[in-house]
Amino acid sequence: MLKTIKMHIPTTLWGLATLLVVSPVSAEASTNTLVKPAFTFDQLWDFQNAFWDSFLYPANVKQTQGNTTTVFTPDVQGRVDITRTFDGDELNREYIYGLFSDPESVSLAGIPIAYHITQFLANDNITSATTVVTFNSTTFGVVIPITIDTWIEFSPEGKIASYDATFRWFGYLLDFILKSVATKTNGTSEQAVAYVSDVLAKHVCASSEKYCKGENQQYENSDSCYETLTKKKRFGQPHELGRDTLLCRSIHEHMVKYRPEVHCMHIGPTGGGYCVDDMTYQETVLQKYFTHSWIPYGYGEDKNIWLAN
Ligand SMILES: *[C@@H]1O[C@H](CO)[C@@H](O)[C@H](O)[C@H]1NC(C)=O
Ligand SMILES: *[C@@H]1O[C@H](CO)[C@@H](O)[C@H](O)[C@H]1NC(C)=O
Ligand SMILES: *[C@@H]1O[C@H](CO)[C@@H](O)[C@H](O)[C@H]1NC(C)=O
Ligand SMILES: *[C@@H]1O[C@H](CO)[C@@H](O)[C@H](O)[C@H]1NC(C)=O
Repeated sequence: MLKTIKMHIPTTLWGLATLLVVSPVSAEASTNTLVKPAFTFDQLWDFQNAFWDSFLYPANVKQTQGNTTTVFTPDVQGRVDITRTFDGDELNREYIYGLFSDPESVSLAGIPIAYHITQFLANDNITSATTVVTFNSTTFGVVIPITIDTWIEFSPEGKIASYDATFRWFGYLLDFILKSVATKTNGTSEQAVAYVSDVLAKHVCASSEKYCKGENQQYENSDSCYETLTKKKRFGQPHELGRDTLLCRSIHEHMVKYRPEVHCMHIGPTGGGYCVDDMTYQETVLQKYFTHSWIPYGYGEDKNIWLAN
């Protein structure tokens, strides 16, 4: 999927690039032993596009098969603002690719069919991009553009070592989907929420019945599942896709089929550590999670409050 790394810059230009990079030396940077960018702008641009190419349906189906990735490093760290953090290749493939790879499945966004990068900057081994991804929401019969802001750090092999993604205007998006449903069903906003809850809960419960058996069983039966998801759990606010809500469970439902022993708990009554109200606003915003700096060449690493240890 990702191409092997090629040096596009001839030696003399490379020397110039090195000079340009080390020229604005500050006291802090002078102690930094790294003097040339890990990747050229061109390579980072290609990596970014290769990632989005692999994300589109049906290319994304391939990423959900097999047990080794072409995209992530084995210990990739990922964070999505509306959900939470995700560790490791297998989980991230199930999540980033599995979630959007089945047109028959019931989901809010549906399947990604096109992308347009509208903003892009890259340096060292880090890219920052804004991408408008077109989704075909097959469940709700709308084609929707979704803006995703990403920061991605690439390994020396050009694989994703960490990413931090933000769904821009997600509250507006959820509101738009609910309003579209309200229009289609001639209902009020509340009725639209009830309609969507019903569709999502039925789907989660059907998957629970099908895949979560024996030790992985979560609910006594379909009725108690439906009752729990529609009465005992909140539908969920736009920032609550990783909290104790129906929306969170409807996301994790997509992963149940890959590894029931891991994911069934997430759609169950307890939320299994993923659909839980475990963090406050402050804890979310100040979470020390990433192991690598998000600032090229290690600048400001000692003051970066998002770094663990
Ligand atoms: C995939 O690989 C991981 C790590 O080697 C292993 O723990 C897991 O059981 C494998 N999963 C499948 C579905 O083969
Ligand atoms: C969206 O999906 C539906 C159902 O599969 C299909 O009929 C429609 O052509 C798709 N729309 C686009 C723009 O791909
Ligand atoms: C919505 O209302 C319009 C006009 O009153 C009616 O023609 C249509 O059948 C209704 N649609 C649904 C899904 O109830
Ligand atoms: C990215 O580059 C920085 C140096 O600027 C380095 O410390 C870090 O380990 C690199 N990341 C990966 C995943 O190799």
